[in-house]
Amino acid sequence: MKRLKVKELLALEPGCDVLAKGWVRTKRGNKNVSFIALNDGSTINNIQIVCDAVKFDEELMKQIGTGACIAVKGRLVASMGSGQAVEIQADEIEVYGTADATYPLQKKGHSMEFLREIAHLRPRTNTFGAVLRIRHAMAFAIHDFFNSKGFCYLHTPLITASDAEGAGAMFQVTTLDLDNVPKTEDGKVDFSSDFFGRQTSLTVSGQLEGELGAMALGDIYTFGPTFRAENSNTPRHLAEFWMIEPEMAFYDIKDNMDLAEEFIKHCVRYALDNCADDIKFLNDMFDKELIARLQGVLKDSFVRLTYTEGIKILEDAVANKGVKFEYPVGWGIDLQSEHERYLVEQHFRKPVILTDYPKEIKAFYMKMNDDGKTVRAMDVLFPKIGEIIGGSQREESLEKLEKVIADRKMDTRNLWWYLDTRRFGTAPHSGFGLGFERLLMFVTGMTNIRDVIPFPRTPKNAEF
Ligand code: 4AD
Ligand code: MG
Repeated sequence: MKRLKVKELLALEPGCDVLAKGWVRTKRGNKNVSFIALNDGSTINNIQIVCDAVKFDEELMKQIGTGACIAVKGRLVASMGSGQAVEIQADEIEVYGTADATYPLQKKGHSMEFLREIAHLRPRTNTFGAVLRIRHAMAFAIHDFFNSKGFCYLHTPLITASDAEGAGAMFQVTTLDLDNVPKTEDGKVDFSSDFFGRQTSLTVSGQLEGELGAMALGDIYTFGPTFRAENSNTPRHLAEFWMIEPEMAFYDIKDNMDLAEEFIKHCVRYALDNCADDIKFLNDMFDKELIARLQGVLKDSFVRLTYTEGIKILEDAVANKGVKFEYPVGWGIDLQSEHERYLVEQHFRKPVILTDYPKEIKAFYMKMNDDGKTVRAMDVLFPKIGEIIGGSQREESLEKLEKVIADRKMDTRNLWWYLDTRRFGTAPHSGFGLGFERLLMFVTGMTNIRDVIPFPRTPKNAEF
């Protein structure tokens, strides 16, 4: 008999013989009958297994505790109990694996902190099952979106010799013997004997290579892991996170904003349409406003305003509305999460795209505005999250780019190939990066980024 998944079983009409396999969530009952709630990860919902005591010996039933893995053959029947349409009247049970009383997920209602300590088992909880299924659905929605628009999925390298954009401290990659590091005559590490013959790191962004792709294929996107070694122990930062970076030839900043807004809305709509059970569970369990917030984002156009206008609103809030921020506000500051969230959650009450930031606080490759002070940057700011997307129109002029690089005293030795894009057939182009886990925080309502990735990497934490 072919095994059916719980999701398929729950959608069947009663009256057929079935085979189900999964893990026991709970077992209850009396000496005549036991009820097992079985889950196999295909859906948040369990299927109920009814076991008559006359059919099963006591020893076997004892082996079937919370966490055990079993296969059940039986008849799918209409359920008498409330809460489910069908259940399985069991005829045969095979125990694949028992789980004794030390199984840590005996009870419901463990704290998120505790579950992080057992990240190897937490996917078996309702919450993480829901989050991980939504994570999968969002990855699919992202590929679907770009594929339908004719974008090419470009695989950019994870190991790099360039410091993309100074987005953050980098993790070094080396095969040198750290107990016996070869040195040059002037006492520096001799990377010429390292694996790549030079100093290399894990990438902080695929953008620079993404731009090379856009100058050949037109529209590309990357979707892969990204590494930042800054010691920011916050609920919104990971040392290893996933980023989606589209890069488009012939797009200006306006086209870039339009794409970003359409893209996020596509993902949110996909989640509402395809992950209804999981989102409803998270809404009911954790965040009663989750569904309303997701629907709200689809309804409204994102607000678009310049950094300079944004700063004025923040200054006005401090001067005239009694708002207090931890970090001072003034033109030139790098916005803190509290500032971003004030604009989004208090002032506008919808997502905001902030543009035209001071050049000093943004990366070297952003296109300079005519004022000579601001660059054509865009950050998309979201309720509860703050920055979810960072992007810009790119400087396409070789001359201007070389001047910025010189002004910033950047090392151009590793960037010659990037500058070649401006040397040979340069074109106006734009792109952005969406933090995949930040999107997932928004869609699931989880408030800590560690709870939307299966195995989080943060300072002092690389277990599992
Ligand atoms: O704003 P960022 O640093 O932009 C870039 O990396 C550009 N190269 C993107 C581009 O234009 N192609 O990062 C982009 C997004 C942020 O908005 C945020 O959502 C996410 O990546 N992000 C992080 N997510 C989790 N943990 C971290 N440490 C993150 N740092 C950035
Ligand atoms: Mg940014």
